[in-house]
Amino acid sequence: MNIQVILTQHAQDAFKILTGIDNWDPQVKVSAKAQFGDYQINGIMSVAKKVGQNPRELASQLTEQLKLDASEILFNVEVAGPGFINLTLSPNWLASQLNIVANDSKLGLTPVVPQTVVVDYSAPNVAKEMHVGHLRTTIIGDAVVRTLELLGHNVIRANHIGDWGTQFGMLIAYLEKMQNEHATDMALTDLEAFYRDAKKTYDEDEEFALRARGYVVKLQGGDEYCLTMWQKLVKLTMAQNFAAYERLNVTLTEKDTMGESLYNSMLPNIVADLKAKGIAVENEGATVVFLSEYKNKNGDPMGVVVQKNDGGFLYTTTDIASVKYRVETLKANRVLYYVDSRQNQHLTQAWMIARMAGYAPESVSLEHHQIGMMLGKDSKPFKTRSGGTIKLVDLLDEAKDRAKALILSKNDSIDENELDTLAEVVGIGAVKYADLSKNRTTDYIFDWDNMLSFDGNTAPYMLYANARVQSIFKRFEIDPATLNASPITLQAPEEIALSICLLQFEEVITAVAREGAPHIMCTYLYELAGAFSRFYEAVSIMQTEEIELRNSRLLLASLTSKTLKTGLTTLGIKTVERM
Ligand code: ARG
Repeated sequence: MNIQVILTQHAQDAFKILTGIDNWDPQVKVSAKAQFGDYQINGIMSVAKKVGQNPRELASQLTEQLKLDASEILFNVEVAGPGFINLTLSPNWLASQLNIVANDSKLGLTPVVPQTVVVDYSAPNVAKEMHVGHLRTTIIGDAVVRTLELLGHNVIRANHIGDWGTQFGMLIAYLEKMQNEHATDMALTDLEAFYRDAKKTYDEDEEFALRARGYVVKLQGGDEYCLTMWQKLVKLTMAQNFAAYERLNVTLTEKDTMGESLYNSMLPNIVADLKAKGIAVENEGATVVFLSEYKNKNGDPMGVVVQKNDGGFLYTTTDIASVKYRVETLKANRVLYYVDSRQNQHLTQAWMIARMAGYAPESVSLEHHQIGMMLGKDSKPFKTRSGGTIKLVDLLDEAKDRAKALILSKNDSIDENELDTLAEVVGIGAVKYADLSKNRTTDYIFDWDNMLSFDGNTAPYMLYANARVQSIFKRFEIDPATLNASPITLQAPEEIALSICLLQFEEVITAVAREGAPHIMCTYLYELAGAFSRFYEAVSIMQTEEIELRNSRLLLASLTSKTLKTGLTTLGIKTVERM
């Protein structure tokens, strides 16, 4: 159920009757102010000239036609300004739609034509700690995945982990050294230290460096011992990452890991194919694609290396292969990349080459959803006090501690166990929600005080708002499921406003899927919580004498809670029954 789509359809039908023109875009938008009705048709001015009419005249004709054809839906239709049309929805129609939504397990969502969508997100690196930079792509990517799935799309999660490259010779040699020295299998709890120490040994110990370089060649040649050691490193790292995903309520599992190494076997053929097609050429021993869209310092086309003169392949080559794989093997209609904005040029070049080679037809959309940097309150990259990178685990522990303090400030008699469970949900929710609620392309300032506050568009506020609606049912011992068939009556303006907001869920979730931007959902849920508050203050539900009206209002409350919960679930935010 999508009000905007329904109104668009009616406007188009009416327009066709008047002008004979099909598929006009009426530009139906939610009105900015209540005095302009609930929705507006803004597309008259741009079409009036084309049909040779005065915009206001055309608007008034369309208004009359809509009054004839859509009287069931529209309570009022009015021409405004130079040719806008203001639409006010009929309360009876809204009520009938709410009843349909209430009786549907998916909140009345219209079935979509399913697309296969590959979402490339998270993508941490092996033998390195997942850091706060990966936090953003993981959280935002996962919200988009959940959203697309709820709408009915076929989603493939692609965790493009950094599990290949020349550094693995050094890492294998170091793992071997550690194993020899400690005899037992190490847990590798501190990956940051492991990587740093490996690098240090490599730089200082010549014999070690020689062995490391030998291992790179062996690994690339498929040597069994090196492969086993490499796998061990991948396993150890990913075990930690999966623990983080679980704690973060992120849906990535082992089957979603499609790291760089997956594409190894494809790379020689890709380079040969690019050469055969005249896209890549030999240049000083390397294989290079010259892209005229990019110029180097001298103004000549920029060269993108796809194979080095020592035979090694590059990050770009792997991303060209991954496009091919996603289109040809996974049958993607759309590929979304949640990747650091600093990799935009890298991705654009890889896609350009993939398009030239025919690996991705124009019909497949490749989208870089850029992730800005995470900054501290001082607007500098987010670091520990001593300047080190912040570990994800430490960050999440701190979130929980701070959430505990916040909850205690509201309720100091809360039971110890409940406090612990609640603090985990609120703390993790706060970190996630703060990130999700911002437009992701901009750099993002990490601020504990803002995210852990009951005021504003925050997780604590949203969780509290939802718990408050649920508390009505608890307090009066009413099972919301028994209300679904109650007929809805809409009287108070706050009641109508809440209803329209509830019926906008599909418009919003569709926008999140189209734009790949979950902050749209956060803004909506915040508005919905506000609309409910205003409704709850204006009409006292349980004091309503008339039983039918009271049930109607209870059903609105229950739908609010369902919508909040569904929305928060698409964001990957867990909810609580009470707070
Ligand atoms: N592993 C990379 C990093 O940590 C991100 C990979 C992004 N995905 C891709 N297809 N290149 O920076």
